[in-house]
Amino acid sequence: MYSYPLLSSLVLCQLLSSARADTPVKLGGYSYVSKGPVAFGVLASNAVDSSGDTIGGIGSAMTIKRGTWSALKNGSFTGTFVMHPDSGPHGDLDKGYQTRQQEIEFVLTPYTGSSSLSLSDAKKTLSLAYRKTLLQVDVDGSKLSGVDPSGTQSSTTSSPALPLVSSSDPRLTIDAESIAQDVDGTFWMGDEYGPYIYHFNSAGQRIGVIQPPRAFLPITSQGYVDFSSSSVTGRVGGQGFEGLTMDHSTRTLYAMLQSALIQDGGVDSDGEESDTTSRYTRVVAYAVGGSSPELKGEWVVPLPRSASKGKTRPSSEILFVGNGTFLSLSRDAGGRGGNDDESSYKQIDLFSITGATNIAGSKYDDPKNPVAPGGTLASDVVPAAYASFVDLINKDSLKKFGLHNGSPNDETLIASRWEGLAIAPLCDSSNKDDYLVFAVSDNNFSTTDGVIGGVSYDEGLDVDTQFLVYRVTLPSLSRGSVETSLGISPCFS
Ligand SMILES: *[C@@H]1O[C@H](CO)[C@@H](O)[C@H](O)[C@H]1NC(C)=O
Ligand SMILES: *[C@@H]1O[C@H](CO)[C@@H](O)[C@H](O)[C@H]1NC(C)=O
Ligand SMILES: *[C@@H]1O[C@H](CO)[C@@H](O)[C@H](O)[C@H]1NC(C)=O
Repeated sequence: MYSYPLLSSLVLCQLLSSARADTPVKLGGYSYVSKGPVAFGVLASNAVDSSGDTIGGIGSAMTIKRGTWSALKNGSFTGTFVMHPDSGPHGDLDKGYQTRQQEIEFVLTPYTGSSSLSLSDAKKTLSLAYRKTLLQVDVDGSKLSGVDPSGTQSSTTSSPALPLVSSSDPRLTIDAESIAQDVDGTFWMGDEYGPYIYHFNSAGQRIGVIQPPRAFLPITSQGYVDFSSSSVTGRVGGQGFEGLTMDHSTRTLYAMLQSALIQDGGVDSDGEESDTTSRYTRVVAYAVGGSSPELKGEWVVPLPRSASKGKTRPSSEILFVGNGTFLSLSRDAGGRGGNDDESSYKQIDLFSITGATNIAGSKYDDPKNPVAPGGTLASDVVPAAYASFVDLINKDSLKKFGLHNGSPNDETLIASRWEGLAIAPLCDSSNKDDYLVFAVSDNNFSTTDGVIGGVSYDEGLDVDTQFLVYRVTLPSLSRGSVETSLGISPCFS
């Protein structure tokens, strides 16, 4: 007797929650749909690589290695991630740590049931296995480092100025935050120290570098590019090219700053970082198919802000989804390994530059002319259109995979720093615009059981690297373009 009302209220609840998750988001004439998470996985905080070092914060940068993605007959998918720690471990441990790429193999078995999984069952939906490490070297074969630069190599006829470990240790130092693999197998890496885009061959040797316009570079009050001291214009320290993605059909790279340049509101009039005026960040486009990279465009993107205090939600990654449209991973610092148990914003949002003003080569490339002085956008510049999309901290979505937001601070707490995105085709003939989007967290080498260069360390907290996979409808992507980017055959002929 009582089962009918109970059943119908349950059904109603499910309809309501799925309707909320599946509400289309309109942008630039397209209708995007977030269909919720389909898998979760972790890499243990104390996992080690073949050199015996803790694998650590590899979620800063992630891409799926070309030619590795495949759909198995039993409904699972396999592939290999190429991932990158940013500046490496901390303190004295980082001194000898060589910049490296890590390869992680995965088996993805999407979970589409409606009941919630335990954390241990959830982890089986994306199983991960370390495969190999590629240690990276400079143009001349010398080892690369990730330590905070305290030296600068002046520009030469063949190279822009470069950040060095120090004047007595002239290794190039890179803070790798984003990665894209080109159609020829080489890799492009977005960096925060420059902010630069570095080019590597598949053997791990640097073969080039792209220096953005002067407005982006750290310039001292004397007018010099200097990576080691406080600058008066250019990127804010630690807010460089967190985002990098490639449109493989035109071989165009897009790189986006984590938040506004110093002169665009990144710091206040006292020279302090200001998260209430730093929302107007910039994205640049470089065509890399010719003999040398060419600046093709530059646009302003308005980052989301907190409702209460108007604080900028910086972007840690971007991903090209066709026709001037991008996914952007924007978040606060709450969560496992962060500054608070409770997160209030972790989203994969959308922005479109199709109607925005291209400021490449304009007066705004000169650091003397801010595009957003004090955080107010110049009236002659139209910014990108922005829309809220996938919510990583949606309570029901987290619960489905054994996770939660807020206290308690245990292994079921959503990670703090989500920094990497990757995409793969679903090849569903009745939903041809549906894709799988992977997000990954950066654990900042936090483990109680770490080892770097044979030296043990304990950061006091085990923060596993978390991965979440979402099913999304992305109608702006031209069919077959994701397969082209992954070097696999098209899903539909
Ligand atoms: C790209 O988007 C714009 C509007 O945002 C639209 O007018 C145009 O038709 C789209 N192009 C393609 C190839 O779909
Ligand atoms: C499909 O096969 C792979 C490889 O044997 C296995 O790892 C995976 O768990 C299987 N998936 C399902 C749904 O059985
Ligand atoms: C990463 O860990 C180091 C060492 O514990 C700490 O100093 C630093 O603030 C952490 N970074 C972030 C972004 O939390």
